[in-house]
Amino acid sequence: MGLCKNISVALACLMGLALVHTSYAQNSQQDYLNAHNTNQAQFGVRSMTWNNTIASYAQNYANKWIGDCNLRHSNGSSGENFAKGSG
Ligand SMILES: *[C@@H]1O[C@H](CO)[C@@H](O)[C@H](O)[C@H]1NC(C)=O
Ligand SMILES: *[C@@H]1O[C@H](CO)[C@@H](O)[C@H](O)[C@H]1NC(C)=O
Repeated sequence: MGLCKNISVALACLMGLALVHTSYAQNSQQDYLNAHNTNQAQFGVRSMTWNNTIASYAQNYANKWIGDCNLRHSNGSSGENFAKGSG
């Protein structure tokens, strides 16, 4: 019983660490930028940096249309590239 409990706790800890590691890798702004900038560099295009003002504008705009998921350009001061997938 004691061994079983210890193994359960160890498994729970390992699963927790795996989830933390995975969610960090998928959610880091820098991870997205690094992947994007690697591609940019292949074509001699300069790297991008994260801009909190633009990120906040984009999040607010996305939240506005969260109900229908239709892609509409905001016609704001920055352009947008949209992508949509299903499967
Ligand atoms: C972030 O974007 C805004 C809006 O385009 C711009 O005014 C500002 O200078 C940018 N900030 C940085 C650090 O580039
Ligand atoms: C942006 O402009 C296009 C073309 O005029 C229009 O169809 C679209 O509805 C506009 N977007 C918004 C959010 O008003």
